[in-house]
Amino acid sequence: MKNIVLIGFMGAGKSLISNKLGMILKRQVVSTDNRIEQSQHKAISEIFQNFGEAYFRGIERKVIKEICEKTGLIIDCGGGAILDVVNVSNLKKNGLLIYLSTTPEVIYKRVKDQRHRPLLNAPDPLKKIKELLAIRKPHYEQAANYCVDTTDKNADQVVEAILKFLPND
Ligand code: S3P
Repeated sequence: MKNIVLIGFMGAGKSLISNKLGMILKRQVVSTDNRIEQSQHKAISEIFQNFGEAYFRGIERKVIKEICEKTGLIIDCGGGAILDVVNVSNLKKNGLLIYLSTTPEVIYKRVKDQRHRPLLNAPDPLKKIKELLAIRKPHYEQAANYCVDTTDKNADQVVEAILKFLPND
């Protein structure tokens, strides 16, 4: 049974949808960010602040490699992980990658009151979201086996779209 890997930008709803899918499909949900925090005994924001993004990406790569040795999981994948080709190849080995897409404006609305996303600590977060998304969108689309546009969907509708796509295994 393949892993179901949710990819997409911060605020795309990966954690919420992963947990819903985990309950419906009775599968274990693993968040790459949670694993990183557990392995470092620190919050993601602290890791960025104390050691920088490159260090974070190194841990992320290691954690993803370990997680992908298992099958049957739902993987809630940190928004920047698919920029690394090694991560994409590890995630694809045992997994179906599902891209939750949406617009910068919707992302901004969802994340604007959250303080734990270091990459969005910018003077103009919407501008930063637009810049990052422009770079990342082609990567998400290329890595994905399936895309769900979440813009006009509620969580249950996103789950429904994913369930329709999944093979019956
Ligand atoms: C990041 C996304 C975050 C987290 C880190 C970097 C990114 O995860 O991994 O702050 O580069 O987009 P979420 O997508 O779960 O917020």
